[in-house]
Amino acid sequence: MAILFKNIKELIQVRKEPIAFVAGSDMKELPTIKNAYLVVENGKIADYGYMADCPTTPVKETIDASEKMILPTWCDSHTHIVYAGNREGEFVDRIHGLSYEEIANKGGGILNSARTLQKTSEESLYEQSKVRLEEIMQLGTGAVEIKSGYGLTVDSELKMLRIIKRLKDTYDLPIKASFLGAHALPSEYKGNPSAYLDLIVGEMLPKIAEAQLAEYIDIFCETGYFSVADTEVILEAGKRYGLIPKIHVNQFTAIGGVQAGVKHHALSVDHLEVMREEDIEALKNTNTMPVALPSCSYFLSIPYTPARKMIDAGLPLALASDYNPGSTPSGNMNFVVSTACIKMKMTPEEAINAATINGAYAMGLAQKVGSITVGKQANLILTKSVNSIGFIPYAFGSNHIESVYIKGKAVKQ
Ligand code: NIG
Ligand code: FE
Repeated sequence: MAILFKNIKELIQVRKEPIAFVAGSDMKELPTIKNAYLVVENGKIADYGYMADCPTTPVKETIDASEKMILPTWCDSHTHIVYAGNREGEFVDRIHGLSYEEIANKGGGILNSARTLQKTSEESLYEQSKVRLEEIMQLGTGAVEIKSGYGLTVDSELKMLRIIKRLKDTYDLPIKASFLGAHALPSEYKGNPSAYLDLIVGEMLPKIAEAQLAEYIDIFCETGYFSVADTEVILEAGKRYGLIPKIHVNQFTAIGGVQAGVKHHALSVDHLEVMREEDIEALKNTNTMPVALPSCSYFLSIPYTPARKMIDAGLPLALASDYNPGSTPSGNMNFVVSTACIKMKMTPEEAINAATINGAYAMGLAQKVGSITVGKQANLILTKSVNSIGFIPYAFGSNHIESVYIKGKAVKQ
């Protein structure tokens, strides 16, 4: 039997037909219905419309949403929520003046998290990771991509990916897995990166593919991490096993990673804090979604992705959290949306499009989530009493969410 939400002050991100993504000036348009109803049946959006047309057939539960809004849950297309321990020591080191790069060069950073994860049992890692997944669901995330990349050995990368699989099997929200073996060069391979690439290509990838543990292949294409040539090797190898590229590029330096991503038909290129004209040009008229991670810029005090320039050039943009222990120890998409408006000058409508339908596209889920469309999963945010859509990013830091529904079921608080 159905659930009926009635008297909804405004139903947000209503798309009659499923769309892939929105780009350029279309990102300003966020279709809504004022004074609406919404019917959920069998975990899916079954019907919606104006209150004047609200059906009178009996339902299992009626929820009065007067003064409240409903929008699709956030689609967080870039996270690293499977990790062990934390790095608040490095956070304090940065407060005292060390840079993220200096910390990494001393063996901290990603290698620090990898050492901790390698020593952590699979059970403990699962327990730590599920706390983060449940936390972000309560904050309104209803679809998420999760990366490996803190294992950096055959066993530990497989351990991470098995945990992502277990999360997929346990929770109702769509979860996608990316294999990020090329996240950093383990210290034992210092001076011999090609041997580590051989391990990824020759051992990790075949095992991951055989066990069907990942949909996407990722790499940190960055000065001091992996080169454009390494990126091409990894993306080509991933593609041989059916993994689609979704890559980290242009976080600190622009070295041609965007072009490599586009060349290999990446589903998304993520970070993009440093964007040259030619990088913006390379993304035009492609199926590759640029993804900005403003919480990472905030936490590391690095430039924000030039969203205005990119959208004004006609590109689409998605927003994601990058939740990880080093550069973004937060998976709060509400903060991401606020920060995109405050620091990147995106309008509330653009930011909500970027964090819903465009985020869904960036993890291959645009047909399943990301908009209020009949047949999509009923993954919904019911807000508290709010004045307008703009109030949500404007009043940053406050919790505007009353309840989150995944497949029509309330997520427990
Ligand atoms: O997306 N940039 C590369 N990887 C992560 C951070 C990794 C870490 O510091 O643990 C990111 O920001
Ligand atoms: Fe990341």
